[in-house]
Amino acid sequence: MTYETIKVETRGGVGLVTLDRPKALNALNSTLMAELLEALQAFDRDAKIGAVVITGSAKAFAAGADIKEMQALDFVDAYMRDFIGGWNDVSTVRKPMIAAVAGYALGGGCELAMMCDFIIAADTARFGQPEITLGTIPGMGGTQRLTRAVGKAKAMDLCLTGRMMDAEEAERAGLVARIVPANELIETAIKAAETIAGFSQPSVRMAKESVDRAFELTLAEGILFERRLFHSLFATEDQKEGMTAFSEKRKAQFKNR
Ligand code: CAA
Repeated sequence: MTYETIKVETRGGVGLVTLDRPKALNALNSTLMAELLEALQAFDRDAKIGAVVITGSAKAFAAGADIKEMQALDFVDAYMRDFIGGWNDVSTVRKPMIAAVAGYALGGGCELAMMCDFIIAADTARFGQPEITLGTIPGMGGTQRLTRAVGKAKAMDLCLTGRMMDAEEAERAGLVARIVPANELIETAIKAAETIAGFSQPSVRMAKESVDRAFELTLAEGILFERRLFHSLFATEDQKEGMTAFSEKRKAQFKNR
């Protein structure tokens, strides 16, 4: 499958999507988001793929939703066709997704990174929600996911002033899982994705589901949800294999069953 605005490859059990609109700093337009969703959903269906990495260029992960595409939009049009509503489907992919971010991750770019399960940042990464400077606000979850990730004070600071934060500030704030030198970004992200892809996939899927539920449930309900999933994994062959392999001091051979 060839795409116009993204590049798609596989590295063993890892799907790699590279956003590829260099002239527009990977600004997210309708074509790019449709292609990205198609590629992610294809990886989600592909039993050989265990995890996905989304990345951009050295200069920009993505500099936001495409301002030129939005410029002339009016309210009724945006509302009636639920403009960008479908872009949130990125967050419904069931396999783990890692955002490997170098350079600008602004507006929709930051929001796309936050739809992934975690972010590995190059030391060159810069995050921000500059929509306020355009007379608007974040529209792909920025006020919600950023607030959950970094807390009210910093989310308000970023959304109200439009300033950027560097990789170190983003890591301190809890937005970013790890920072690596820019030239090690892709390999580090792929290695992390390979590690995930090498585990028993039912347990990987359930770990992701359970962490995600933490943002929707009370603590008591979340703990119950987690324990029920934990119980259910005793029904898998891979749990027996994992624990037997530990006892026998050998590497587990998971069958995803
Ligand atoms: N949409 C469309 N085009 C964009 C873009 C965007 N979000 N960001 C950059 N570009 C384009 C520029 O227009 C420019 O194109 P031309 O060469 O044709 O003029 C090209 O990419 C290179 O950009 P710059 O010349 O501006 O590069 P720079 O290095 O001087 O600055 C930057 C980089 C600071 C990231 C700057 O491009 C910038 O501020 N971009 C906009 C960031 C922004 O406001 N993002 C939020 C968008 S709104 C949004 O995302 C809503 C939402 O929540 C869904």
